[in-house]
Amino acid sequence: MTVLRVVNKITTHVLREMKLQGEKIAMLTSYDYSTARILDNAQIDVILVGDSASNVMAGHKTTLPITLNEMIYHASSVVRAVSRALVVVDLPFGTYQGNSKEALNSAIRIMKESGADAVKMEGGSEIIESVNRILSAGIPIMGHLGLTPQSINKFGTYAVRATDDDEAQKLLEDAILLDKAGIFALVLEKIPAKLATKVSQEIKVPTIGIGAGSGVDGQVLVLHDMLGITQEFSPRYLRRYHNLFEEIQSSVKSYIRDVKSVDFPNEREQY
Ligand code: KIV
Repeated sequence: MTVLRVVNKITTHVLREMKLQGEKIAMLTSYDYSTARILDNAQIDVILVGDSASNVMAGHKTTLPITLNEMIYHASSVVRAVSRALVVVDLPFGTYQGNSKEALNSAIRIMKESGADAVKMEGGSEIIESVNRILSAGIPIMGHLGLTPQSINKFGTYAVRATDDDEAQKLLEDAILLDKAGIFALVLEKIPAKLATKVSQEIKVPTIGIGAGSGVDGQVLVLHDMLGITQEFSPRYLRRYHNLFEEIQSSVKSYIRDVKSVDFPNEREQY
């Protein structure tokens, strides 16, 4: 039986306690009011307003095109629906990498204009100045290492990261650096399970894995992937809980049939 933590609001402090007590953290993405209501009612721990909205909501090939204004629009829709879950918002590509003052302004805009609880940023030592400046303003940060989709043009592939010793060592060092800087959690995407377990043991803050095995402190999936709304995307780590693409399509076909045959609306469905 799954025992859910009885708290009115999940905070960064609650997540730390969950790690200490060995209770796994469940995180999913959401980009809109209606799905965020369902997730919060189901008592998900963390909702990530991911920049995967760029792919899933806007149909872009990568996460790079989504803007800060678009992320704030998605995040404020989610925040209006949520009372319990911790809401984390991705800082989009180009709003934090180059200049730590600009990074702080981007993070402040997200916090002020959406009402979210925290921001997420991809990278390690390369972005540490921005991380420190944002943290010093009292804004909680979730880090993200391993496969970092905002760097897809550098990687040139969505394959598993940190399979060689040098990249694995750099990832471990980045995780320790971010932990010491004061982030509250760390996403580990598509890296060997053994490395993810080691990182989780070495750092104080909870790790949230996606394609990183079970030795991490929690898991995250993109909601549209786990519900089977997206179809083409099928990595080994993805567990599909539904085939909503088929189910929605079948409902739409029934509706079309009913309209065309004048079965809908019937007498009880009119005034
Ligand atoms: O944008 C996103 O959905 C993410 C998750 C895959 C971790 O960063």
